Amino acid sequence: MLTVPVTEPTWTAQFIAPADKTAVLDGKAAVLFRRDFSTDAEITAAVLHITALGFVEPYVNGTRVGEEVLAPGWTSYRHRLHYRSHDVTELVRQGDNTVGAYVGDGWARTRLAWNTERRNDNLFAEDAGLFAQLEVTYASGKTETVATDTTWVCSTDGPVTANSIYDGEDYDARKEIAGWSAPGFDASSWADVKPVAWDLAGVLPAGDLEPVRRTQELPVAEVITTPSGKTVLDFGQNLVGWVRLTVTGDAGTTVTLIHAEVMEHGELGTRPLRTAEQTDRYTLKDGTQTWEPRFTFHGFRYVQVEGWPGDLDPSALSAVVVHSDMRRIGTFDSSHELLNKLHENTVWGMRGNFVSVPTDCPQRDERLGWTGDINAFGPTAAFLYDVRHVLGNWLADLCAEHEEKDVVPFVVPDVVNSTDDTALWGDVSVLLPWSLYQAYGEEQVLRDNYASAKRYVDRVEGKLSDNGLWDTGFQYGDWLDPDAPPENAADGKTDKYLMATAYFAHTARTLAAIAEVLGETDDAATYTALADRVRAAFQAAYVQPSGRLVNESATAYALALRFELLPDDQRAAAAAALVELVRAADHTISTGFAGTPLVADALSSTGYLDDAYKLLLQTTCPSFLYPVTMGATTIWERYDAMLPDGTINPGSMTSFNHYALGAVVDWVHRVVGGLAPAQPGYARLRIAPQPGGGLTHASTSLETPHGIATTSWHIDGSRFSLDVTVPDGVEADVTLPAGSAHPAAAGPGAHHFECDLPA
Ligand code: BGC
Repeated sequence: MLTVPVTEPTWTAQFIAPADKTAVLDGKAAVLFRRDFSTDAEITAAVLHITALGFVEPYVNGTRVGEEVLAPGWTSYRHRLHYRSHDVTELVRQGDNTVGAYVGDGWARTRLAWNTERRNDNLFAEDAGLFAQLEVTYASGKTETVATDTTWVCSTDGPVTANSIYDGEDYDARKEIAGWSAPGFDASSWADVKPVAWDLAGVLPAGDLEPVRRTQELPVAEVITTPSGKTVLDFGQNLVGWVRLTVTGDAGTTVTLIHAEVMEHGELGTRPLRTAEQTDRYTLKDGTQTWEPRFTFHGFRYVQVEGWPGDLDPSALSAVVVHSDMRRIGTFDSSHELLNKLHENTVWGMRGNFVSVPTDCPQRDERLGWTGDINAFGPTAAFLYDVRHVLGNWLADLCAEHEEKDVVPFVVPDVVNSTDDTALWGDVSVLLPWSLYQAYGEEQVLRDNYASAKRYVDRVEGKLSDNGLWDTGFQYGDWLDPDAPPENAADGKTDKYLMATAYFAHTARTLAAIAEVLGETDDAATYTALADRVRAAFQAAYVQPSGRLVNESATAYALALRFELLPDDQRAAAAAALVELVRAADHTISTGFAGTPLVADALSSTGYLDDAYKLLLQTTCPSFLYPVTMGATTIWERYDAMLPDGTINPGSMTSFNHYALGAVVDWVHRVVGGLAPAQPGYARLRIAPQPGGGLTHASTSLETPHGIATTSWHIDGSRFSLDVTVPDGVEADVTLPAGSAHPAAAGPGAHHFECDLPA
């Protein structure tokens, strides 16, 4: 069954929900909907358009339609709600037919964001609404429409007795209703539905947006019996999805699955989940049965199993990986095993946090589209996967909410009622479209987000003090600076207003560049002048004549150097001060969300490549590779989420799957692998690997918009060799390692270069 691109139908469907609202308690039973229809004519085509306020699983004549899970995905529903169009020609037949749908709470109705009272605010919708329209074309050319209206019926007495994204699903197989979505079923006891008002202007085709799908299945790697006697399955990989099980036992037996990312002192470590229960409960019917949940997802590597009837055969359970099914386009490999693992962990972190929306984390009571996190990680994400659709879609939500609220929300979709601007987070409205433009070369993303980008910059300009600094109001700062106290992630070493002002200068400069690309020359001049003014203010307030900053931290120097905030004659002194700090910390890391994406570049671009490598390859805590040495299989929220003694960091921010600090991998692609766009969308390549760190080999490959580009370098003694592939119609500027000046322009095809390395 394919999802089909169609022109937008003329809707006759309306949203429907159970007429008796008390039957659908928040976070409780999912709702079955059905409608019979029959036809005598020969059918040539049938398309089902479907969406819901909640998760929806469509059925036609007893068969599940499509492979999408967690449909319709998460958007800012009040502005934009996607429907999918499925080709169901094979399923609809001459004679009696049934259309059915199973609707869970989904993002529209589940509890979202941290709230200790576990309120379910029904943030987007009060009712479990279904919207479906089946369009049948007959051989005669006539068409017929079967659409949701009050002739449908519903039941809340199905097997999903409770469902919640954070807390999990309860499923009682004894309540399964045989044949409920097929003709001939007696639905006389089913309940009425009522129409639900919903603005159809916001109901949009999902188009090219990749659905969330099952993409992989992992077997149990180890069965652990804990010191307290619990049975815990280790799937060997921190992932996002759920468990599928096959079990035989007596009807009424309940198997409980508790999901967590880590073990602590031999037992399941659930504290990082905060109030999210991540617990599925499956109650057996008679016989052998296979089940997986459908209206929840979990972030986990370990699953504690309780109540399993008889001996547990680990082959009866597997972990199902789900995420937005984007195309993988970029790879990296090297001679350094731990670095390769860091890269693989970044990919897994991305997979787990691209479940429809780019999220901070996938396990605790957040899983929200935090703007700062994707701003930091955007360039890395755009290299690893083709994120044009998922991030383009998310930015469309951002624009809609930004226009409504006038601030860039902290999270998109906004479920925390954002009322403030904050650097790095808000800057996403300018910097993420620019990152996507650099990666894919499509001007449209700049155009689509231009109004929002201007709105942000104009609003923050209005907040600047007379001296040109952004030095009042709320800021998250260099979030999760490793030196911030566990209980206050915002309390880092770097002055918040230094950071805010630096980001703002850079963002204004970037907006000027966007205006230039779009031919908005007046705007380009305006934002260049603004960027100059803020840069001058930064210098006046934070830079001493010696080139040292008044607030010395690696993040502060990285911002000043990477955002070109210093006059040329002060850069060398600032870089020397940065490397002093980096060495004083023995190349352990000291930057948070704001500095981490910049610090390696700040070093390597100012003559301190060795120090950049040492920073990348340090294994002492806190560092990029410390988690790898601790067995991490994803990127952790803090470098020391798990302390060296195996205790979980005492802070409340201890996700073990948070991509933000994986932002350094962008540097790995560009500087270690040596592949970067010299022009937007790789219309021209910059191939300039800078070997170091004792690596003897590194390679990248990237499916650019023009075709595959690859780099692969080797060191043999003092000899450096580089093989590259340049896509058709493209040229590459090739630079061999420093000291062996050997710039060359290479045209399409395969090329080999060699040189002696500097001593
Ligand atoms: C999230 C972060 C987010 C931050 C805001 C946290 O709770 O998990 O990743 O960016 O809040 O500072």
